[in-house]
Amino acid sequence: MVILVVSPGEYQEKPFKKEIALLLEYRIMRAHILQRVAHRGGSALAPENTLAAFRRALTFPVDAIELDVQMSRDGHLVVFHDETVERLTNGVGNILDLDLTYLRSLDASAHFPGGWPEPQHIPTLREALDLARQGKVEVYIEIKSSRRNGLSGRYPGITEAVVRDVLATGMRERVLIMSFDWSLLPLVKDLAPDLRTGILVSEDVWNPRGPAALAHLIAQAQALRCEWIHLDSRLFTPEMPALFHTGGLRLGIWTVNDLADLRWLAQAGVDSLTTDQPDLFAVLANQLFSSESDKG
Ligand code: G3P
Ligand code: CA
Repeated sequence: MVILVVSPGEYQEKPFKKEIALLLEYRIMRAHILQRVAHRGGSALAPENTLAAFRRALTFPVDAIELDVQMSRDGHLVVFHDETVERLTNGVGNILDLDLTYLRSLDASAHFPGGWPEPQHIPTLREALDLARQGKVEVYIEIKSSRRNGLSGRYPGITEAVVRDVLATGMRERVLIMSFDWSLLPLVKDLAPDLRTGILVSEDVWNPRGPAALAHLIAQAQALRCEWIHLDSRLFTPEMPALFHTGGLRLGIWTVNDLADLRWLAQAGVDSLTTDQPDLFAVLANQLFSSESDKG
């Protein structure tokens, strides 16, 4: 899929200029494949990380949904962002202490701004993968760390359980597994070498002002056998796409909720853009040109 970046009504008044502008942007974008990703299923449009959000995302031109995975006390994978349930649900507690039955009894739409028509369960990873398979979109799975009293840990067996669910649902070619906990990513490769992985990068885990910072980042991703680097948008610099590509890596940017920024980053050559507002992709995409570009 090649994305042509246009704004609504932008070219409507001067048809000749419109054609030139479209062709120019088409030339810029034609060799470049860009994945459009709904962050937490599109958390500005529906309760985050719920099946309702994922279904809503599928009504827009998205190539993938991003979701967060944690593990219940009794060992089930649940799609949920925070380590505690208070911000998003009508429940209380830390995921480390809660069993699946309790988590499933909660309403994950409880605090959605403006309300939501029906209560939403916290999905299991399997449910989300099944929905994505039926919707023919990819899934960016972020494996979260557990957290208690400010201390991070790894849910026991979470990497193995995620890989098991991906393989069991037939999604191995449509999944990217990412984490800020970089050291779990080689285990994914050991278990299923063809599964794609990516390091998540923020200033918490990478110092962009350190010596040879970019070269080190690229070397680390390569050493971990990753295909992707997924970067906090605030850390993006224009030389990154070419440098990462030369290193055999693809570059994803999160989380971008401004149309002008999406457009600029797409033109700068990044490989995926993640947003809370997947409706913005309907503005960015010009499907008329995608079929022509597929011809080369
Ligand atoms: O895609 C990466 C991004 O989702 C990481 O941030 O806090 O939204 O999970 P967070
Ligand atoms: Ca995430």
